[in-house]
Amino acid sequence: MFKELQKINERPDLYSRYTAQELWDDEYISTQMLETHLDDSIDLASRSGDFMKRSVAWITDYFKLGSGVSVGDFGCGPGLYAEAFARRGAKVFGIDFSRRSIAHAEQSAQKNSYSIEYQRGNYLDFESESKFDLITLIYCDYCALNPEQRKKLLGMFYKQLADGGAVLFDVYTEASYDMKDEVVMYDENLFEGFWSNDPYFGFLNMFKYDDEKVIVDKYTIIEENRRREIFNWLKFFTLQTITDEVVQSGFSVAGHFSDVSGAPYDESSETMALILRKS
Ligand SMILES: C[S@@+](CC[C@H](N)C(=O)[O-])C[C@H]1O[C@@H](n2cnc3c(N)ncnc32)[C@H](O)[C@@H]1O
Repeated sequence: MFKELQKINERPDLYSRYTAQELWDDEYISTQMLETHLDDSIDLASRSGDFMKRSVAWITDYFKLGSGVSVGDFGCGPGLYAEAFARRGAKVFGIDFSRRSIAHAEQSAQKNSYSIEYQRGNYLDFESESKFDLITLIYCDYCALNPEQRKKLLGMFYKQLADGGAVLFDVYTEASYDMKDEVVMYDENLFEGFWSNDPYFGFLNMFKYDDEKVIVDKYTIIEENRRREIFNWLKFFTLQTITDEVVQSGFSVAGHFSDVSGAPYDESSETMALILRKS
């Protein structure tokens, strides 16, 4: 018991495990995730309906979405942005590794008669002959990746981007890192049944890595016959650190905002949105 508690409370080595697929594609958890995506009153999994409306309007206008424009939405979830882009006439491709989200996205596109191409898979392994005029990665997914994964993703975006095209993505800021304190939380049934349909005990240990500006939410979920650890890593950036990073992959920052609805840049904002173009 003492040893188990020690393990639960142990600070993991930075980026020691990548468990994103267990978080997003687990048969049970993905049902909860889908409900959360589709609940337009909250900012979880997808942002709220109000935000998305403003965001889609801004993206459509800024990138002049319409027929003849091809968009690749990476980490498309259940296709909320993808459908909105298709509604404006763009040719849309979406990829996500959640089976449940892609199944929902495909059904919804069929029901609404949108010819969106969806693919279920890890976007880090994406390869295609297609080129996109606009690549989107929305809701700070970039922050969940380790430095090698981020480099790989940017390299792939560079390859898949049409000449004159742009990448739009958002990240958490160091201002929001500074507002966070480490957390230790235990609850029987942590997050009200989010992790399993069976009884469980859930622990959340949130650790900060000040030198790297990284946070991990480490979840330990203990059921009668199963024990799981899920690590949700998040890297926080300043405009300078994200610029230095993307430049290494041949991009320049062609625009920066506070979020993907085009709100003016403010360094105290929780997020920032970047527009990249090939330099
Ligand atoms: C925070 S959600 C955002 C969904 C969508 N962009 C939105 O704003 O509604 C992140 C999505 O990225 C997907 N995802 C995370 N890492 C991925 C990876 N390596 N490959 C493919 N999909 C991934 C998850 O399954 C999830 O649907």
